[in-house]
Amino acid sequence: MSSKPIGIFDSGVGGLSIWKEIRDQLPYESTIYLSDSKHAPYGPKGQKAIIDLSIKNTEWLIDRGCKLIVVACNTATTNAIDQLRIKFSVPFIGIEPAIKPAALQSKTKTIGVLATEGTLSSNLFHKTSELYLNDLSLIEQIGDGIVELIEHGKLNSSEMRDLLIKYLRPMIKAKIDYLVLGCTHYHFLKPILEELLPKNISIIDSSQAVARQTKSVLQLCKLSNNKALKSESRFYTNGEQAVISDLLKSENVTLKKIEF
Ligand code: DGL
Repeated sequence: MSSKPIGIFDSGVGGLSIWKEIRDQLPYESTIYLSDSKHAPYGPKGQKAIIDLSIKNTEWLIDRGCKLIVVACNTATTNAIDQLRIKFSVPFIGIEPAIKPAALQSKTKTIGVLATEGTLSSNLFHKTSELYLNDLSLIEQIGDGIVELIEHGKLNSSEMRDLLIKYLRPMIKAKIDYLVLGCTHYHFLKPILEELLPKNISIIDSSQAVARQTKSVLQLCKLSNNKALKSESRFYTNGEQAVISDLLKSENVTLKKIEF
C-alpha cells in the first residue's frame, strides 16, 4: 500500500479528461497534475524534443513523490514512453489511439483517426495500426491547430467548427463508421463532433480504459492507497491559468502557477 500521489502530465489541459476518470474510478488516490502548457503543442515537435519534455515532466512529478506516472498525452506516449520506462523505475501508464476496438467493430471496414502529427508519425502508432488493421482502411487526419485553440479557450469557437468540418469531410466521404480520438485534448470536442458527424459514426475515446489500466497496475504493484486515508488533487500549470481553472471550476481542487 502507498499513500503517495499518482502523477499525471500532458502538454496542457487535454489530460484532465483522464484525471477525471482516475478520480471517478480511484477516489481514494491522491493526484498531482502537471500541465506543461508553456510548451504546447507537442504535436509538431520532433521526437527528441518530445522525449526531453517528457523526461523533464516525469522528473518534476517524481521529485514530488509520485508512485506511478500517467502519460496523459498520446504524442508523449507514442514518442517517449519506451525511453521513460528505461530511465525511471516507477510504473508508467500511457495512452495511444484506440485503433483496436475501432478495427474490431467496424462494419464499413473503414475507420478514421484524428491525432497530432507527432502521434501519427511515430513508430509505436504504426506498429499498433499494422497489428489490427488487416483488410481495413485507416483515414488519418492531423488535427493541426486544434490543441492551440483549446489551450487559448476557443473550444466552442467558429474557428474550431470550421477546422473540424474540414478535417471530418474526407472521413465522412470515405464512409468511416468509427472515429478514434487520438489526442487527449480532443475529448473536449465530443459534443461538437457529435453534432457534426452523421449518426452512424461512433466516437472512440480511451480515457476510461486508461483509468482502468491505472487501477489494475496499482493493484498489481501493490501501490494502491489505504482507503481510510483522505485523498487530494493538486494541479500545476506553467501557462495561463484561465482555461484550466475554467475546466476545473466545479471541482474541489487546488491550482497553482509554476515557473517550469
Ligand atoms: N494532449 C496531447 C495528446 O494527447 C496533445 C499534444 C499536443 O500538445 O500537440 O497528444
